[in-house]
Amino acid sequence: MLVRLLDLPDISEAEKNLFENHGVIFKRPISPEKSIVVDWTKKHFSKNWADETEVAFASKPVNCFIAQRGQEILGFACFESTAKNFFGPTGVLTDQRGKGIGKILLIKALMALKNMGYTYAIIGGVGPAGYYEQAVGAKIIEKSEKSIYQNLLKQPK
Ligand SMILES: CC(C)(COP(=O)(O)OP(=O)(O)OC[C@H]1O[C@@H](n2cnc3c(N)ncnc32)[C@H](O)[C@@H]1OP(=O)(O)O)[C@@H](O)C(=O)NCCC(=O)NCCS
Repeated sequence: MLVRLLDLPDISEAEKNLFENHGVIFKRPISPEKSIVVDWTKKHFSKNWADETEVAFASKPVNCFIAQRGQEILGFACFESTAKNFFGPTGVLTDQRGKGIGKILLIKALMALKNMGYTYAIIGGVGPAGYYEQAVGAKIIEKSEKSIYQNLLKQPK
């Protein structure tokens, strides 16, 4: 999917609300947190996503955002990990979904891509297209079913 980065929605109120009422903070993790974030991604999502997250740590600042409450990770969103200008992978713990965490992570990652100089970003390997369309007005790129993820070697959990 293609996302225009020039008029992303304002998430400051939603972020403030999650912090004040639920103690959730959003941040870019740093190197000493690498194995914790990567292991969490492997445990809750997949080894493939954990590998992409590990690569995100090769950039400084790290090309990833996490949602954190105390010592708990609630969600993550990486960007420019597998291809230039690509958003993803992203995920929120099943019991934390629907609270706006995924959207804040998405927009923070897209804003970081914008700050890198991009005007549009690509959501690669789209799962829930309706989510991206609703959250940031993303549009399907026709004939892109064949992507860089085609023929991916999938690692079992
Ligand atoms: C996709 C995902 C990250 C969304 O996280 P979330 O924290 O539940 O999302 P939010 O609560 O921020 O939802 C933001 C908005 O999108 C909507 N939305 C959420 N999931 C949706 C879906 N699957 N389809 C359509 N709309 C969706 C919400 O209703 C919400 O709308 P609102 O702003 O009007 O309230 C989460 O469902 C997830 O981890 N899914 C499994 C992993 C996955 O599929 N990742 C994406 C791979 S490309």
